[in-house]
Amino acid sequence: MTKAPTELAEEVREQVKDRKSYLGVIDRLNKASVDKHWEAYADIPWDDPEFQVVKNDPRWVLPPFDRLGETAWYRAQPPEIQAQIGLWRVATAMKIGLQFENLLKRGLLNYAYWLPNGRPEFRYVYHETTEECHHGMMFQEFVNRTKMPIKGMPRALTVIAQVAPWIPLVSTELFFVFVLGGEDPIDYVQRKSLKNGHIKHPLEETIMKIHIAEEARHISFARHYLKHRVPKMSPFRRRILGVVTPVILGAMARIMLSPPGPMVRHFGIPKEVVREAYKNAEAQGEICASVGKIRDLMAELGVINPVNRQVWKAFGIWDEPKARGAARAAGTAKAA
Ligand SMILES: [Fe+2]
Ligand SMILES: [Fe+2]
Repeated sequence: MTKAPTELAEEVREQVKDRKSYLGVIDRLNKASVDKHWEAYADIPWDDPEFQVVKNDPRWVLPPFDRLGETAWYRAQPPEIQAQIGLWRVATAMKIGLQFENLLKRGLLNYAYWLPNGRPEFRYVYHETTEECHHGMMFQEFVNRTKMPIKGMPRALTVIAQVAPWIPLVSTELFFVFVLGGEDPIDYVQRKSLKNGHIKHPLEETIMKIHIAEEARHISFARHYLKHRVPKMSPFRRRILGVVTPVILGAMARIMLSPPGPMVRHFGIPKEVVREAYKNAEAQGEICASVGKIRDLMAELGVINPVNRQVWKAFGIWDEPKARGAARAAGTAKAA
């Protein structure tokens, strides 16, 4: 019997006026990690007949409102190919997710290594690392069960990404921007898929619900850490943070929301179909929206200025903070 959460957890949102309120947030997050956590091999009924992963299962077929699912090419494929493409995409997202979280865990441990005794962040970072270990196990177990040759990030990117665990030794603030850059877009996509009724398979649904519940805490910690620390940064370090942030976010959101190259090659998806599904104003709007929360946070912290706003624009992830909906609608209207 699974203990997956029944409702989607929300983030802790508090103003961090002083150190006391910041410490209060960490206390609450620590307590929540003790009270509500899930283990990959204890809380997911992998052997339940309903939870088996079968590649031709029609529950993997992309719904008609999906950007790839709605193309004429996809709809013309036989049902088993439609199911395999759907499963491939889910599994690739999980593989990229577990690779990102591997980098994240190593970075968290590098950060915790140097913390002096008595620092409250130590305990929370260890809770987060423990939870991420279970996420990595559940994602990899899912990928294994597809029996498909799933690859994660493109190789060149994997090589560059090995720098990430060392970022906290240079700037902890930048490291937590990297954390949000990975976690926020994944969370955005997972919440949207669940809310839209996109998820039909109970194993995928269970994994997503567990992930959303625990990521709400990780995202909360990163946000409050930034709220607490960024105002204390020197003007020079702040300027650097302001320029590097949109570069990291733009690159990461694009990786997470792009079509997997091996899938395109394996199924021979024509270039025009890929362009129709992934390279249009609507897809760009989705990438832009997926970093909306962190863009608002950066604006709130006063990190965005007229110069680095051009970098956000160059990466196609700029929108007026707090009025995202209206601006996105305007973008879509223009594209139409
Ligand atoms: Fe995770
Ligand atoms: Fe996380």
